[in-house]
Amino acid sequence: MKFFLDTASLDEIQQAMSFGILDGVTTNPTLAAKEKKPFKQLILEICDALKGGIANAEVVSTDTEGMLREAREVVSWHPNIVAKIPMTPDGVRALSILSGEGVRVNITLVFSAPQALIVAKAGAYFVSPFLGRLDDISQDGLVLLREIMEIYRAYDFKTQVLAASLRHPLHVVEAAKMGAHIGTMPFKVFEQLFKHPLTDRGLETFLKDWEKARETLGDISGPAVSRKGAR
Ligand code: G3P
Repeated sequence: MKFFLDTASLDEIQQAMSFGILDGVTTNPTLAAKEKKPFKQLILEICDALKGGIANAEVVSTDTEGMLREAREVVSWHPNIVAKIPMTPDGVRALSILSGEGVRVNITLVFSAPQALIVAKAGAYFVSPFLGRLDDISQDGLVLLREIMEIYRAYDFKTQVLAASLRHPLHVVEAAKMGAHIGTMPFKVFEQLFKHPLTDRGLETFLKDWEKARETLGDISGPAVSRKGAR
């Protein structure tokens, strides 16, 4: 499973990159607006920070012509940019044309299986079902993800499923179990994936025990310890 960060914050991207497990970033107009800098500059800085990872940049036009213009523009900025287009009839018209031109498109704001079926047929590179936002209205987002995975497998669609609006580690785990190609998550969820209270407690005990026996144990990277035959 590829890990994407759902953010436009360079600080968060750089922190996540330091672990060597980040594959890309999804931005949207809300996330970009928080960064208070020109959009092109922001996306290019993100591409730089990702060192080869994928950056998703969303269009803001709502008509097909405008979407085509903006999608072609954003993908011209850097080879690792995927154009993000909302799941609307105009968006699907734009998608069909762009996929015919070989432009990689992520269809966003997907909330139903029929929507996912349509965009796979139209050649989307990524489809982004929003799990958390379905949960918010008392529909199980994971049920939608399961349906999409089943349909895509039945027809061997090439569209990659990008599980989005992930709100907690269980969303990530369940999406991984279903074989979602990518999970995009806020930095907070990314950090939560590392944590377990037993890891913290176990480490604390190990270090206390080491400290108690420090005189005998010495330093791991310190001077050589006198041992028979050792120098
Ligand atoms: O990637 C989808 C994301 O931008 C929406 O997430 O948490 O705002 O529902 P959220």
